[in-house]
Amino acid sequence: MAEYQTYEHDVLVIGAGGAGLRAAIEASAAGVSVGLVCKSLLGKAHTVMAEGGIAAALANVDDRDNWRVHFADTMRGGQYVNNWRMAQIHAQEAPARVKELEAWGAVFDRTPDGRILQRNFGGHKYPRLAHVGDRTGLEMIRTLQDRGVHLGMSVYMEYTVIRLLKDGDRIAGAVAYTRERGRFVVFQAKAVVLATGGIGKAYKITSNSWEYTGDGHALAYDAGAELQDMEFIQFHPTGMIWPPSVRGILVTEGVRGEGGILLNNKGERFMFNDIPENYKNQTAKDPDEGWRYCQGDKTAQRPPELLTRDHVARCIVREVKAGRGSPHGGVYLDIAWIKAKIPNAAEYIKKKLPSMYHQFKELGGIDITKEPMEVGPTTHYIMGGVKVDAESQMSRVPGLFACGECAVGINGANRLGGNSLSDLLVFGKRAGEYAAKFAKEHQTPTLDRQQVEAAVRWALEPFERVGGTEGPYEVQYALQDLMQDLVGIVRREDEMQAALDGIAKLWQRAKKAVVKGNREYNPGWHTALDLHNLLTVSEAITRSAITRKESRGGHFRDDYPNKVDHWGKVNLVVSKGVDGQMEIKEVPIPEMPAELKQIIEEMK
Ligand code: FUM
Repeated sequence: MAEYQTYEHDVLVIGAGGAGLRAAIEASAAGVSVGLVCKSLLGKAHTVMAEGGIAAALANVDDRDNWRVHFADTMRGGQYVNNWRMAQIHAQEAPARVKELEAWGAVFDRTPDGRILQRNFGGHKYPRLAHVGDRTGLEMIRTLQDRGVHLGMSVYMEYTVIRLLKDGDRIAGAVAYTRERGRFVVFQAKAVVLATGGIGKAYKITSNSWEYTGDGHALAYDAGAELQDMEFIQFHPTGMIWPPSVRGILVTEGVRGEGGILLNNKGERFMFNDIPENYKNQTAKDPDEGWRYCQGDKTAQRPPELLTRDHVARCIVREVKAGRGSPHGGVYLDIAWIKAKIPNAAEYIKKKLPSMYHQFKELGGIDITKEPMEVGPTTHYIMGGVKVDAESQMSRVPGLFACGECAVGINGANRLGGNSLSDLLVFGKRAGEYAAKFAKEHQTPTLDRQQVEAAVRWALEPFERVGGTEGPYEVQYALQDLMQDLVGIVRREDEMQAALDGIAKLWQRAKKAVVKGNREYNPGWHTALDLHNLLTVSEAITRSAITRKESRGGHFRDDYPNKVDHWGKVNLVVSKGVDGQMEIKEVPIPEMPAELKQIIEEMK
């Protein structure tokens, strides 16, 4: 392997958002050598788009909260197809992970008596989100970065991994290229942790930035791991919709947590018109009760704007389709109305939601302390990901771990806001711990030269294509349009079948897409390589969505609008067949232990 720069680590972490950083910290603290690969610059991660807070039952604002309520809320939000063991571990361990983050220097907002302040969020029964204004993810990344850098680890910035390497069945490392120079490098590692985040760039309207092309999902799938729950996509109800250049940028749920309301073009608070049966006894009966809840009145129930994201997003789509939308095809989100309720409302809004204030002022020319925002759903998160063991986060490929958004488990059919930040702390830590353990227990794997050369040949192939007329961006845009239109918030069999045909054609177009220039910082080339991942995850999403003939959480079908008992008992697992074709199988959800069933019953 002399012609490629080769780095050797016990544990290689791919992805440097919250989950990757937390995994790297834990592995490093266990005394093994750690390499941390970032597709972008260290600190630039979708974690910062979880703005409103970290969900953890600290019970600082409402002492009725505890891990059991958090567990039951997470299961109900996920409509009971969650990995119940992961939901349990998450609810039990999240408070300790938040306190640890505080000890490492995260500066949380405070209650009057000096404890970590917690706010309301959709689907959480009590105020549970520990936060730093509306910049919680950013503060988390800053804190983890400081901690990680001081512990000691090798950070590889602007490196993109294109292939995982194997030694027999077990993981052996990865091949990557440097984005700046286009040079290939080889990582030899006893254990690899995938923490690459989501797939948002498979859709046209998304809160995700350019890095989120399903890399970890596709790398794992190609290496023989299984994916699960790929049909469940979270469309966050509130993204910016105007001007077009900022479409999809996140508007935190924290706005609604602080009392923001959703209105249609008739000025109606339409969320009161459609409250799901299983949330009826937990939802306010009138606007005043909803406001009292946001102000901390323990006798009041949550406003309907704080129902789960899947439901709120569908209600917005319904208003727009019925002609009751805002001028640019969304609805109104109004926080300015609280001036009727509290003195100094403008100051309050700027203090609680500083980023939202600046975002709308600078990007949209809107003063949110005075006028409503225009918002609409944006692709935010995928609940599906690499199937892992609940305790260790290891996939079925020995030595290959996954955590954070690219792993599947705690969220089921729909994630509750704020559960991602706690998920990545809880399971990032576990992935790092178990990856380090695996590394200590195993010898250095052998690298296979042929695998490396095959990966390099594959990566250079776009430069050698002749006669093609279109570039990779055209293929990517076509895919984004297709997924947005045919496998979006509301789905139908005929449209998804058309999507599948379209994806097959896009695979062919991707293989012919022409790349110009050389290997030095060439975004067209990078996109040509990303297409493989985007198409892999899009196909997995579409095939799984066609298979699940019901509606549940982030998977809503016009042709099967109800939940079906059978589908509540199985997960859909995606794997690569021996012939290289994608296979989908139904896997029964293991029986939940009696004590967890009892918690769910009690909380109902
Ligand atoms: O709305 C938000 O602040 C997003 C949070 C999340 O996705 O967890």
